[in-house]
Amino acid sequence: MTDTFVAAIDQGTTSSRCIIFNQHGAIVAVDQREHRQIFPRPGWVEHDATEIWTTVQAVVAGAIAKAGLRAGQISALGITNQRETTVLWERATGRPVHHAIVWQDTRTAGLCAELGGADGQDRFREATGLPLASYFSGPKATWLLDEVPGLRERAEAGEIAFGTIDSWLIWNLTGGTDGGVHVTDVTNASRTLLMDLRTLQWDPEILDALRIPRAMLPEIRSSAEVYGTAVGPAAGVPVASALGDQQAAVFGQACYEPGTAKNTYGTGSFLLLNTGERPVPSKSGLITTVGYRIGDRAPVYCLEGSIAITGALVQWFRDQLGIIGDASEIEPLAASVEDNGGAYVVPAFSGLYAPYWRADARGVITGLTRYVTKAHLARAVLEATSWQTREVVDAMYEDSGVRITTLKVDGGMTANQLLMQHQADVLGVPVIRPKVSETTCLGAAYAAGLATGVWSGLDELTTHWRRDAEWTPSMAADVREREYGQWRKAVERSFGWEG
Ligand code: G3P
Repeated sequence: MTDTFVAAIDQGTTSSRCIIFNQHGAIVAVDQREHRQIFPRPGWVEHDATEIWTTVQAVVAGAIAKAGLRAGQISALGITNQRETTVLWERATGRPVHHAIVWQDTRTAGLCAELGGADGQDRFREATGLPLASYFSGPKATWLLDEVPGLRERAEAGEIAFGTIDSWLIWNLTGGTDGGVHVTDVTNASRTLLMDLRTLQWDPEILDALRIPRAMLPEIRSSAEVYGTAVGPAAGVPVASALGDQQAAVFGQACYEPGTAKNTYGTGSFLLLNTGERPVPSKSGLITTVGYRIGDRAPVYCLEGSIAITGALVQWFRDQLGIIGDASEIEPLAASVEDNGGAYVVPAFSGLYAPYWRADARGVITGLTRYVTKAHLARAVLEATSWQTREVVDAMYEDSGVRITTLKVDGGMTANQLLMQHQADVLGVPVIRPKVSETTCLGAAYAAGLATGVWSGLDELTTHWRRDAEWTPSMAADVREREYGQWRKAVERSFGWEG
């Protein structure tokens, strides 16, 4: 039997990747390139969308070449992407009107407070499942329409297109100014603050409130269907899936049953719990989001605990403090001491997301004494990831009544044994990593392959999942709860620093 191939593009916060998989879900080739992070002011984060498109074309060409294939041998191309990051471009020229505003950017915090009015953060929560926070795309688009001279008029006249990164890539991949399709998928649309979670359509009242012209918005489609045919390095390949990266990881981890969950450790960490075909509202600071929708089947929803800074804290420890020269050095340094020496690091660099949603939070280090060394701090940096995860797992239990019995994990930080052991310890449940840790790309490939008949259905995909490593909890319950108390005290200290 000849092999079948599916390609997936993962356009992430710091780099773009293309991976080609075979019909067994095994990796055949990978290509990856970084793009610039632009920080014009404290709290502002931008990307050059044209640079992103250029790197995406390069990695697609690179992966196809490394696999020794021709585009014609690839059955489908899927897309997964950093979510919420917002691009506005001219339909006539394909030129972005401004740098993309990245999900971590906090410039719209004041605008969000104004928009909330008497209802505060909850103003659109029932319709969208989201708090009004600078994280999401809608207010970023409002900011651009307000700040770029003449833009709102041009948008109203239909000259401007809005997109999250999936839309920007699909439009370009399918021809751009020469017939590119302007669509987004339900998972990405569910991060804009503009989509009604139940109708899966743009909400006209919210568009009015945010002063966003309907004419600039893409059509909302499912996560797995053929949107169009690629031109360029993947010429002729059907573009057949789009999912936000965290939802793609849910799909790649085979979390298809209600009650299954995964945590992806990247720049931030995002824990998603499949809640089935009904959106579950959160009362505990989580968000309700679309997990995936396959063609015209019912959508599947998730509860999500979004943590803005986890891996990025290790980068900060390396680049801003210079305590380590390479991210891999943090584990031996942390392992050289028994514990954190009483220190806790709360990395509230973009405020705090779930479960607090505090724009006024800033990073703090607590518990310092002369006893504390850089090794204790290294440990506290790693532990910040597992304690933040514990907080969202607790919130998930409060919201859904589902107690996670194991946690599937993926992402770069899962290579860190000490962190994964601490994660199992503070949750009190086993933590499991799959063999294919590139679950984000795998999920996008799976969805594209389902849409084009490469795989028969979710049951077949579930059989591909294989365990690679498992960490079982070993910390005494009283130690765990005492340390958790210290962590929560440290979090309290991070509030109230705005302005
Ligand atoms: O919501 C933001 C998330 O999608 C970013 O993911 O892995 O690109 O940092 P990542």
